[in-house]
Amino acid sequence: MRLVLLGPPGAGKGTQAKILEERFGVPQISTGDILRGQVAAKTELGRQAKAFMDAGDLVPDDLIVAMMEGELRGKPSFVLDGFPRTVAQAEALDGMLQRLGLPLTSVLSIEANREALMRRLSGRWTNPRTGRTYHDEFNPPRLPRIDDEDGGPLVQRRDDTIDVVAERLATYDEKTAPLVGYYEKKGQLVRIDGLQPIDAVTQAVLSALGREAARP
Ligand code: AP5
Repeated sequence: MRLVLLGPPGAGKGTQAKILEERFGVPQISTGDILRGQVAAKTELGRQAKAFMDAGDLVPDDLIVAMMEGELRGKPSFVLDGFPRTVAQAEALDGMLQRLGLPLTSVLSIEANREALMRRLSGRWTNPRTGRTYHDEFNPPRLPRIDDEDGGPLVQRRDDTIDVVAERLATYDEKTAPLVGYYEKKGQLVRIDGLQPIDAVTQAVLSALGREAARP
């Protein structure tokens, strides 16, 4: 499985990527999680990325492409969550995969309207250690603000404030939405209704991938 998950902030890319990772052992590669790790570790990349992320803008393509060349090396299967995000990144990914002889299996565009996205991001809680997300209403942890798996605290992301979310959505419309047409033209795109409950989205993803819905 070599999959790209496209979709606006809050569409459910990370949620579905984690489910696929758990069910099939296919590694989730989330550029957002990797960048937040770099910011927390105060690396040079994290220092350069932080201001863009805090403003809801994209980190420059050259930094992201260099980072992803390292991430993809030695991984014959993956779920890409948050990459590519510009046409330049998509073209760079095509080149990398061509060199590795590993074409994409499919590109799923998880779609949802603005009202749902705002509601999801404002109620989201994240495990900063693993990237797993919860939601106050739609996917609550067993204990409030505590991760079910590692028992550690959940946090709200610093870019989930109303102003920054508005910027992230505008950035998506301007720079990332054109990728839907890019992959549609290549015949690789499947649209997924992301407004359904999490389990129903998973069923739609599995059926798009031609996989059995049963747990392994
Ligand atoms: P990133 O971390 O990738 O953020 P994003 O794309 O804005 O996506 P989110 O993580 O906010 O949403 P999601 O679709 O994963 O939703 P989730 O599953 O959590 O990027 C952050 C920043 O890093 C960017 O702004 C940029 O600066 C930088 N960056 C990252 N990649 C980059 C790149 N390639 N190039 C340049 N810059 C880059 O779900 C959201 C909430 O809804 C959760 O609470 C969840 O429980 C709930 N939920 C999920 N599905 C459902 C459902 N079906 N029904 C009800 N609730 C649901």
